Amino acid sequence: MLGRKVPSVTFRTRVRDEAVGGSNPFRWQDVSSDDYFAGKRVVLFSLPGAFTPTCSTFQLPDFEKLTAEFRAEGVDEIYCISVNDAFVMNAWGKSQNLANVKLIPDGSGEFTRKMGMLVAKDNLGFGMRSWRYAAVVNNGVVEQWFEEEGYSDNCDSDPYGVSSPQNILETLKSQKLAA
Ligand code: BEZ
Repeated sequence: MLGRKVPSVTFRTRVRDEAVGGSNPFRWQDVSSDDYFAGKRVVLFSLPGAFTPTCSTFQLPDFEKLTAEFRAEGVDEIYCISVNDAFVMNAWGKSQNLANVKLIPDGSGEFTRKMGMLVAKDNLGFGMRSWRYAAVVNNGVVEQWFEEEGYSDNCDSDPYGVSSPQNILETLKSQKLAA
């Protein structure tokens, strides 16, 4: 993946818009890969599902807490992507009180498939989801890659460590020291 451009896809997000009126004032908003990635250096992390235990207890909240440290290492944004629709991702973000990390709904799995990271999780009743990985993406190009070991369909374990915020932050800090 290093040096490759992230796939160009259109994400179907749901945004609040009071002009819609009623008790549920949300509308669709298409957001492109370029909208998310052009002209920014971002950390993207991808996980098997919103609301799942490791993601909700450790990975997402830890990225949220460590945002200032990532910014100090030259990261403009932190994005969390999952093969879940916009309704699920919005509900997860609300439950996590996110102020920093932005959630990207890859409901159809198109981005994840084109990244080569789509795996079957039928053993969990999930269908097709993302293998755990993270990347530093600079102006749409993958600058650094953090993929959990054992990429496979219906994996009976859930390796988590390489794509943790702590590991990525340590890597960025040590690169700065070595430079
Ligand atoms: C977890 O984040 O803990 C998890 C992810 C996928 C399936 C089951 C659990």
